[in-house]
Amino acid sequence: MAKKSFSCSACGASFTKWSGRCEGCGDWNTISQDKPLSAGPASKSIGSKRGNTIELTNLSTEEAPPPRTTCGLGELDRVLGGGLVPASAILVGGDPGIGKSTLLLQAAAQFANAGLKTIYVSGEEASAQVRMRAKRLGLSDAPVQLAAETNLRDILTTLEAEKPQLAIIDSIQTMWADNVESAPGSVSQVRSAAHELTTFAKRHGVSVILVGHVTKDGQIAGPRVVEHMVDTVLYFEGERGHQFRILRAVKNRFGPADEIGVFEMTGAGLAEVTNPSALFLSERGEPSPGSVVFAGIEGTRPVLVEMQALVAPSPHSQPRRTVVGWDGGRLAMILAVLEARCGIPFTGLDVYLNVAGGMKISEPAADLAVAAALLSAREDAALPADTVVFGEISLSGALRPAPQTENRLKEAQKLGFTAAIAPAGGKTGSGGGLKLSRPSDLTGFVGETFGAG
Ligand code: TYD
Ligand code: MG
Repeated sequence: MAKKSFSCSACGASFTKWSGRCEGCGDWNTISQDKPLSAGPASKSIGSKRGNTIELTNLSTEEAPPPRTTCGLGELDRVLGGGLVPASAILVGGDPGIGKSTLLLQAAAQFANAGLKTIYVSGEEASAQVRMRAKRLGLSDAPVQLAAETNLRDILTTLEAEKPQLAIIDSIQTMWADNVESAPGSVSQVRSAAHELTTFAKRHGVSVILVGHVTKDGQIAGPRVVEHMVDTVLYFEGERGHQFRILRAVKNRFGPADEIGVFEMTGAGLAEVTNPSALFLSERGEPSPGSVVFAGIEGTRPVLVEMQALVAPSPHSQPRRTVVGWDGGRLAMILAVLEARCGIPFTGLDVYLNVAGGMKISEPAADLAVAAALLSAREDAALPADTVVFGEISLSGALRPAPQTENRLKEAQKLGFTAAIAPAGGKTGSGGGLKLSRPSDLTGFVGETFGAG
């Protein structure tokens, strides 16, 4: 006898017995018994009916790498790992209004022009609205087939009849499966719609791209609940006020994760940015205290960004620590190391750190650039404008070389920098022709760069 299981249709929590109120989210009357996916009486366990034997193969099966279609939007192709793989399921997540529909309409047009039969299903906008957007983007002539629909059953039937090579579903939160008893946007709806669509993709050899809104208040289910079902997860990020948008691969079964594509939102849609470093540094003015250029690596390519710090006496008993584009915990660690190993306290001082251009950085190699920006702000002493900084700081105050040192230096040289501060060790190759300063610990770095700490 199979064990019964119950789950909450609002938050997705599962339970072994029914109750009126979900312990997970506190909602009433949302718990119901899970029905098995396969047809047949619920009480029968899978083992009681013989299935078919599945074919087993070994690991050395020789198969050609999947053929890929590139769309011509180079930044998108790059993030996909070199183009679109047939029968793959891709999730594109991002905040509402960030530009997902714009990106995917452009992608749909490009893929259609490249010869793929493409269907774009909008659950959020009427066809006329999408056509207006296409007109604005100059894509009216692309052979994309368009539908405005939210009923999943109708969509699947249509896809089965039309047999497209690419289907774009905008967005998964508006899809409504009539066999699931909860509102569109709830966890169970989103999960089952995504499951239906991804299995459809595999079975019929259609690539599907699902759009998912990231939600802060939890009113609708976020893309996280479907991340594990798809082959590729891309997040479209950026600050609303900025024109830069970054498409980041956080999972990719067919290519490197962590790869980024950089776009600029213009009046005529998204334009690709092939040289992000130049763009990120373009707003940089005269050298000023607290501003340091970090030579980072995003995926396979080097990207230079400006780190900005502001340190000011705090009127509060608990000084503020505000971070945009970097990890707050990591900032606390660097402040602690500066105090413990170099005797430079930040008590009584408010600290603000910002990564310019709306970029988000997660590399530990940014530690040294952050420390440099903090010290520069605190001492009110600007670093030379032609210097890049990178390296990881350990709790002991020692500096660790960053991976791909040579690539970082080369990119810096390409953009006109003449000097670099990077930890000793690590392959520098020719060093990109830069004047190198190579401290081995934080105290040495502080002494060298800011005189006596
Ligand atoms: P949209 O693609 O609708 O966002 P999402 O699907 O992620 O919710 O993008 C909406 C924003 O993009 C909107 O604020 C206007 C802006 N935009 C431009 O700046 N230029 C354009 O060419 C287009 C189509 C949109
Ligand atoms: Mg949209």
